[in-house]
Amino acid sequence: MVSSSILVSTILLVFFSTTILCSEQRNVTALLHDCYEKQIQMEFFASNVYLTFAHRLAYDGVYHGFADFFFESAEEEREHGKKFLDFHNVRNHVSHLRDITISEELSSIITVNEMLRKAKTLEDDVFSNMRTLHGYAVEAGHSETVHFIEKVTLEEQTIAVKQMHDLVKRLDHNNNSTILLQMMDQDLRKKKVKQP
Ligand SMILES: [Fe+2]
Repeated sequence: MVSSSILVSTILLVFFSTTILCSEQRNVTALLHDCYEKQIQMEFFASNVYLTFAHRLAYDGVYHGFADFFFESAEEEREHGKKFLDFHNVRNHVSHLRDITISEELSSIITVNEMLRKAKTLEDDVFSNMRTLHGYAVEAGHSETVHFIEKVTLEEQTIAVKQMHDLVKRLDHNNNSTILLQMMDQDLRKKKVKQP
């Protein structure tokens, strides 16, 4: 009698453990999917913000180097977003694209100083979500996504974060001086000329 009740208890334990494991697996997979879509959204959002900044600077006509820098950054972010979309497309996963809204606060930024600081925060946020995404991919045992992030996107994002941090550091070390901004703008123009 005792042994049969132990057997029933063991069967129930195995059943519930398996059910809990399956449900946890489903939860991680859902979190991975949501985080992946958020990553796509963030890349295209950053692209649109940089395009807004670039347009503003080109319109003002003072800092052409920074205007070109933000135009190029907008293109890069668009390419990043597209890479994430392509990764899903070839695997027949559906990605839901949602509205990308540039707030009044963002579109009213007019100084290069503020633009660079906002860009630094954006790059940090994108990097942080990518790290979370990588964690979910590992947890879900989704080796293709882990490989894609480690071999393709993480390095690109690390370089983007470094670039924005360096620009803001230069501002901080020189008390946000206008002369420094003009020098940085000239540097960016020279880089543009050197390109093939
Ligand atoms: Fe990016």
